[in-house]
Amino acid sequence: MSLSDEQLSAWQDNGYLVLPDFVRPDLIGVLTQRIAEMVEGFARSPGEATTVFSTTEKTHAQDEYFLTSGDLIRPFFEDGAFDDDGQLQVPMDRGLNKLGHAMHDLDPVFDRFSRTPEMSALVSDLGFVDPLLLQSMVIFKPPHIGGEVICHCDHSFLWTDPQTVAGFWFALDNATVENGCLWVIPGGHRQPARSRFRLDGAGTTTDVLDPVPYDMEALIPVEVEAGTLIAFSGLLPHWSARNTSDDPRLAYTLHVIDGTADYPADNWLQRRPDLPLRGFV
Ligand code: FE2
Repeated sequence: MSLSDEQLSAWQDNGYLVLPDFVRPDLIGVLTQRIAEMVEGFARSPGEATTVFSTTEKTHAQDEYFLTSGDLIRPFFEDGAFDDDGQLQVPMDRGLNKLGHAMHDLDPVFDRFSRTPEMSALVSDLGFVDPLLLQSMVIFKPPHIGGEVICHCDHSFLWTDPQTVAGFWFALDNATVENGCLWVIPGGHRQPARSRFRLDGAGTTTDVLDPVPYDMEALIPVEVEAGTLIAFSGLLPHWSARNTSDDPRLAYTLHVIDGTADYPADNWLQRRPDLPLRGFV
């Protein structure tokens, strides 16, 4: 057992848990160094990424690029990273929205970081029986360009039946209201998901399950220091603002589902057969 009774009841009551100093400072350095190497690699040979994102309009190519990234590590750019001529306006690490979505299986540094005894114990304390590491992302939220992420719950995107997904948000920089920290609706995880994003033929669709918008007044900011882990239920509504500061707001996120639940074939994130989902071993 790694969590106290107080922490477990806070998790149950609020739908999230803040664990300061979960990440050792030297490991933050290891991760940020690895991220810098990856960004350098993408800057040297951007491949299709810059072509796909160098338009301001959302295109079929962007959808396809996203939908086939569940078992890859691909860079995604912020809106506004490119000018009208398709030229990157800022250094690459200041224009990236994220890297995703299989860092934890394809990169040895992120694999080691994600699969620690501490994470395994935490996930087990939160009630997982057969935990599977489904999705990972490095989220950049760069100064001035990093955009808003609208209020949502992650179950809408990583559906299981019954609902099992939980998010693990590791702050690699201090996260503040100014640089776009997470905001959450405490207790909001007791409500069902209001939508489901899924595959629909060659494209995607969003099923509206409850048209009532989230109460944005109920959101509270979760300002944390680098090294903090925020664990949150896949049903917890959360939001983040634009980064209006001069500071970066780097985070790593991991999403875990339970293998005892059904994983629908029309979820957007699908793995190729030679890269099956794995747990903590
Ligand atoms: Fe989310």
